[in-house]
Amino acid sequence: MVDVIRVKDAPSRRGQECTIQGWIYRIRSGGGIVFAIVRDGTGILQATVRKGAVPPQGFQEAIGATPESSVIIRGVIAEDKRALGGYELRATDFHLVSSSPPFPVRKGQSASMLLDNRHLWLRSRELNAILKIRAAVFGSIHEYFDLEGFIETQAPSFVSGACEGGATLFKVPYFSTSVYLTQSAQLYLEALITTLGRVYTVAPSFRAERSRTRRHLTEFWHAEAEAAWYSEEDMMTTEEQLVKHVCDTVSAHNEGEFGILGVAPQHIAIELPLERVTYEEALEKAGRAGVELRWGDDLDYRAERAITAQAEQPFFVTHYPKKAKAFYHRPDPRRPETVLCHDLLAPQGYGELTTGGERIARLDVLMQRIEEAKLDPKDYDWYIDLRRYGSVPHAGFGLGIDRLVKWITRAEHIQQVVPFPRTMRRMRP
Ligand code: 4AD
Ligand code: MG
Repeated sequence: MVDVIRVKDAPSRRGQECTIQGWIYRIRSGGGIVFAIVRDGTGILQATVRKGAVPPQGFQEAIGATPESSVIIRGVIAEDKRALGGYELRATDFHLVSSSPPFPVRKGQSASMLLDNRHLWLRSRELNAILKIRAAVFGSIHEYFDLEGFIETQAPSFVSGACEGGATLFKVPYFSTSVYLTQSAQLYLEALITTLGRVYTVAPSFRAERSRTRRHLTEFWHAEAEAAWYSEEDMMTTEEQLVKHVCDTVSAHNEGEFGILGVAPQHIAIELPLERVTYEEALEKAGRAGVELRWGDDLDYRAERAITAQAEQPFFVTHYPKKAKAFYHRPDPRRPETVLCHDLLAPQGYGELTTGGERIARLDVLMQRIEEAKLDPKDYDWYIDLRRYGSVPHAGFGLGIDRLVKWITRAEHIQQVVPFPRTMRRMRP
């Protein structure tokens, strides 16, 4: 389209006549002039519509335009210190494309009302900023893996066996039988490393989590990586570099969005290497903060919040008890009651971002763990095969992208950082 520009490009078009297409953010009129603030996804720009400067029909349409109406405005870009952003569009024509009745979503409404109207609330400046940061997080995850030679691949969403335990599986009808929605691509990635070496996926995972915490979704976005010949320590280095790369990228490129959110991104300035604390040290820390756990318990939400509340940097927790973690983790040869598995926890109370570790490479050890975990080897026949045909030491991890975005934007609830969140009680819009 000739001369149609986006709001963010307005400063470079000073003095030129061009067209803006968007929605009315705010509007007021009086004394033969209409001040309309327009948003178009890239920013907001004030348009001044003067009687006589636009055709009479256009002026009538401007007078009648309401917030959230869609509009096309033609005009000359001019510098104006009083206008938001320092520029304005002096209209030469105004076209009301589609008007909007009073908008049902306003600042200060209850969280559940805002979630019911998520399809409309998405237009808020706050959500626009969060979604742009979220996009930058996804982009920089791909960028990091690409730089490190990990090849992007895909795993199925319909699966026949559990990766993370049967308690959180969604069962779905599948012709004359039933299958599950995937909890993790991991087992498939372990197969894919035998052809590609280092692989990753970015895809949704599903968990029938009954928890109503601020960090659980039933459908979440999962970045998962797996690499042949990697030790647990190699994978921890990959994880911390990935998180640092994402944080550095968004801090550098999303200043405007952080400004809208009122967040100074100093909290994501990461210094490597990150601290590694053992599970036992974490238990002690939790105990001192008043959360008592017994050796063998997984660190729950409360424990994680307690041990990360005062931290300033993310840190790893290592050497989890075997019984607290999934069947595929390699037992530590020096302490076989623990596994070569770790979590990366975000500071300031945010908690778990990743879980990763080294996998069992030996067939006999894997068979024993499958038996101990009371799983049916038939469900894992192809996975077991991977230990029969040229097994290699390997490691991997999964990163909860929504949780990472939550910490980066300092959101209170994970639902705030997902366009259309899915939880136990929320399936629409
Ligand atoms: O810790 P999890 O369950 O680990 C796995 O699924 C491994 N198989 C990953 C792997 O090694 N490839 O999940 C990984 C991450 C968690 O650390 C958390 O950040 C996120 O996924 N996550 C959730 N995020 C939102 N809502 C939920 N219900 C989540 N469950 C896990
Ligand atoms: Mg975990």
